[in-house]
Amino acid sequence: MPILPSHKLVSDNHEDIVNGLEDLHKRREQLATQVMSRLATNSDFSEMVKRNLAPYQRLMTYYECAMMEIETKFRVLDAEFGLRYDRNPIESIKTRLKGTDSLAKKLNRKGFPLSVESIENNIFDVAGVRVVCTFPEDIFTLADALLAQDDITLVEKRDYVSNPKPSGYRSLHLIVETPIFLEKEKRLVKVEVQLRTISMNFWASLEHQLRYKKDLSEEMASQVSDELVKLAEDAASLDNRMQALRTYLDSQSPEQLESQN
Ligand code: GTP
Ligand code: MG
Repeated sequence: MPILPSHKLVSDNHEDIVNGLEDLHKRREQLATQVMSRLATNSDFSEMVKRNLAPYQRLMTYYECAMMEIETKFRVLDAEFGLRYDRNPIESIKTRLKGTDSLAKKLNRKGFPLSVESIENNIFDVAGVRVVCTFPEDIFTLADALLAQDDITLVEKRDYVSNPKPSGYRSLHLIVETPIFLEKEKRLVKVEVQLRTISMNFWASLEHQLRYKKDLSEEMASQVSDELVKLAEDAASLDNRMQALRTYLDSQSPEQLESQN
């Protein structure tokens, strides 16, 4: 077995350590720049919100109302589906209003002005509704049923179920416009709807935690990404098998199922 001379080991080791320290130093500097720019943006944004508190709060209330409307539409569809097919296509529904920090970050990242009007015109995911479905086909059945409603307008559709992101991420994203009825007016408000299965949701939640582990070397980060893509494929394969089983059982009449007992 070839044995490396000890000075070679020491020198490789030393080089690794120096490179590692340089990497660490670079990452720390990048992080410091990011933090400084975020603080500056945040304080500009907070100032803007303070100056426009009433219109800002009014706009946020409209988004809250629109989320309630969309959530109710999905609950109605779930109840009707339960009556018709004796099973519920929705596992859970979560709503979230984008916080001031991430609003400030997004406006800054996209180069949009920091104003209440700019939020309404440029940010389409201030109101978010996440619908976790039981089977992959439920995603499309529910999306089609929502989009068929005559007060809903589709603004944008991104199908990351049929075309997953390079990260492995899968979900169906819709930006829809829904009316909300106020005392004296009707307003159209945009809501982002994310539809995904339980296993897509499981993957996305854990990936989100793992991706934000900051202190990984480039090599390690790339290995983690590769593993996450494989895990997403495994999760998708579980979904497909569950769906196939569901489709098979749905295709069997009660008599056929009975006769197999
Ligand atoms: P934004 O300008 O940030 O809205 O980018 P975009 O419009 O390209 O957004 P995209 O359609 O990629 O979806 C944004 C949302 O989808 C995010 O806020 C996450 O909730 C989710 N998402 C997208 N990609 C990923 C991913 O790789 N991993 C996880 N965990 N979530 C993702
Ligand atoms: Mg988006």
